[in-house]
Amino acid sequence: MTDTWPSTGARTELRWGDLRMATSGELSRVWDAEDLRRIARRRLPRLIFDYVDGGGEKEITLNHNVTAFDRIGFRPRGVAAIDGRTQTVSFLGRASSAPFGICPMGGLGYLCPNADVIAARLAAKAGIPHILASGASNSIEQVAAAAPDARRWFQLYVFRDPGLNRRLLERAAACGVEALVVTTDTQINAKRTRDFRNGFALPMRFTPRTIYDFAVKPGWVWKVGRHHNSAGMGNLMPEVGPNPTPAKAVTYFKNERSRSVGWEEMKLLRDIWKGPMLIKGIVTAEEAERAVALGVDGVVVSNHGGRNLDGTVTTIDALPEVVAAGRGKLTVLLDSGIRKGSDVVKALALGASACLVGRPVAFALAAAGEAGVEHVLAMIHDEIDRVQGLLGFTRMDQLDSSFVRLNAHP
Ligand SMILES: Cc1cc2nc3c(=O)[nH]c(=O)nc-3n(C[C@H](O)[C@H](O)[C@H](O)COP(=O)(O)O)c2cc1C
Repeated sequence: MTDTWPSTGARTELRWGDLRMATSGELSRVWDAEDLRRIARRRLPRLIFDYVDGGGEKEITLNHNVTAFDRIGFRPRGVAAIDGRTQTVSFLGRASSAPFGICPMGGLGYLCPNADVIAARLAAKAGIPHILASGASNSIEQVAAAAPDARRWFQLYVFRDPGLNRRLLERAAACGVEALVVTTDTQINAKRTRDFRNGFALPMRFTPRTIYDFAVKPGWVWKVGRHHNSAGMGNLMPEVGPNPTPAKAVTYFKNERSRSVGWEEMKLLRDIWKGPMLIKGIVTAEEAERAVALGVDGVVVSNHGGRNLDGTVTTIDALPEVVAAGRGKLTVLLDSGIRKGSDVVKALALGASACLVGRPVAFALAAAGEAGVEHVLAMIHDEIDRVQGLLGFTRMDQLDSSFVRLNAHP
C-alpha cells in the first residue's frame, strides 16, 4: 500500500483487498482503538461496557499489557527501499494477508446482533484468521455457513464431560475448522471487580441496578438487548435438551466447565483433534516446553487480556522466553494489549508469527457493527503499513530483534 493520506487532511479510502476504512459518519473520525472504545462506552449499558473493558482485581495486568509495548523502542533504517510492502505471512502451513487475527471472545452478542458471524465474515474478506469462542453467541455452524472461506479456528474451554468435548470437536471438524485453540488460563473464574460492583452475571440478573443501566441506554435495548440471541451461546444450544433457551445454554456452560485441566486432558484433546492444535494462555518457557513435548503445533502467548490472574506478566515481556523454549517447533502467536499496528510489528520483531486482537474488535462491533469491524481491521493494517515504511522493511520475515530496543522508554 502506498501512502494515500493527502496533506489537506481529507481522508481518502484506504483499501486492503476489499476492506476499507469508513470515510463518512462517526467512524470517519475514528483514528485509533481508543476512539472506538469511547464510542462503545457511550453506546453500551455500563455493565456491558465494563464486562468487555475490565480486568481482574486491580487491573494491573490489564493496564501493563498496553503500556508494556510503549517501553519498546524502534530502531529504524531510514535508508531503505520500501516500495512493494506486503504484510502476507504464513503460519501453520497457510498464508494470511496480514500478521494479525481476531481473538476468541464470548458474549459478543451483547454488543451487536450476529456479532461472531460479522467478525468471521470480515476476517474472511481480509484474509486473516478468526477464532470462534466455545461460549460465542453464534454457533460453529452459523459461522461456517456465513464465512466458508475464512481461516476459521475454534477455541475450546475444556468441559467436564469428555463426550461433550468430543462432540464439539466433531462439529468443528465437520464445519471445516482449521485449528483448535485450547484455553488454559481460565481454570476458575477470576475476581473481576467491576463486574461485582455492577452486578454483572451470566445469565444476566435483573436488579434495580442492572435495570437502571439498561434503561439509560434505550438505543442499545432497541438494537441489541431485545434480540433473543444476544445473551445466547450458540454452540451449546444443541446440548441443553428440549426447549433450549439462551439462559439454559449459559447455565449449562457454567456448570459443565471443567475446573481443573491438566496435561492429561491436553493429551486426550491432542489425540482426538487431527488438525493443528494451539494452547492459549502460555506465558512461561516451562509450559512452552511441555507443549512442544506434547506435540501441539502452537501456543498463544496470552494473559486473557488481563481479565484473569491479575499480576500476570505482560505477554510482550513473556514472548522471548516462550519463543526460545519453542525451539522453532512451535508457532507462537501473541495477544493481550494489541492496540496499534506498531504493537504487532514489535511482537513480530521479538519472534511472534502473528498477533490476535481482542477488545478493539469488540468495541468496533459495539460502535458500528459490520462497518466498525471493517474499519478497525483496515485501520490496523494501515498502521502496520506505515510502520513498515517508516521503520524500513518490506516483508514481515525481514523483521528481527535488531529492529527494536527493549526498555528504550522505561
Ligand atoms: C469480552 C471478552 C470475552 C472473551 N472471551 C474469551 C473466551 O471465551 N475464550 C478465550 O479463550 N478468551 C476470551 N477472551 C480473551 C481474548 O481471547 C484475548 O485473550 C484478549 O481479549 C486479548 O486481549 P485484548 O483484549 O487486550 O486484545 C475474551 C476477551 C474479551 C474482551
